Amino acid sequence: MKHVFVGASSAALMLSAMLPVSAHAAGASAKTDAQPCLIAGWENPASVCASHIKTIAATCFICHGPNGKSNGAIPSLAGQDKAYLIAAMKDFKAGRREASVMQKYALGYTDSEYEALAAYFAAIK
Ligand code: HEC
Repeated sequence: MKHVFVGASSAALMLSAMLPVSAHAAGASAKTDAQPCLIAGWENPASVCASHIKTIAATCFICHGPNGKSNGAIPSLAGQDKAYLIAAMKDFKAGRREASVMQKYALGYTDSEYEALAAYFAAIK
């Protein structure tokens, strides 16, 4: 598969075009695991964790499509197997899986964020 690089300016344009609609739709259709979580080393209540994960997931929509449903060359995340998504993020972080951009994204998040993101995307129908 050929990988597509989305430049910063076009990504920003897509983000501003997509966010209001997709953030709303994600809230309506996807559930996140309601568990306390660590954000930057601090324990946070489940409600804070759920909105934290929705905010991160919205940044993934830029390339993986609104609600993780892609129409292009970049794979969809919506409805993917949770364990598969977690393993992919760990492989990107460790450099075990070839990546154009995903190693950088994977480096930005913790294992517990991978878990919550994977649950979030796996729950989207
Ligand atoms: C700048 C565009 C971009 C952004 C933003 C982005 N991705 Fe990706 N993603 C890609 C590309 C391109 C690939 C293919 C691997 C590669 O070339 O890095 C990919 C692959 C993946 C895969 C493997 C999918 C599969 O079917 O094997 C996962 C999982 C993934 N991304 C998760 C995420 C998550 C979670 C986020 C948000 C934190 C995210 N991505 C943000 C571009 C992006």
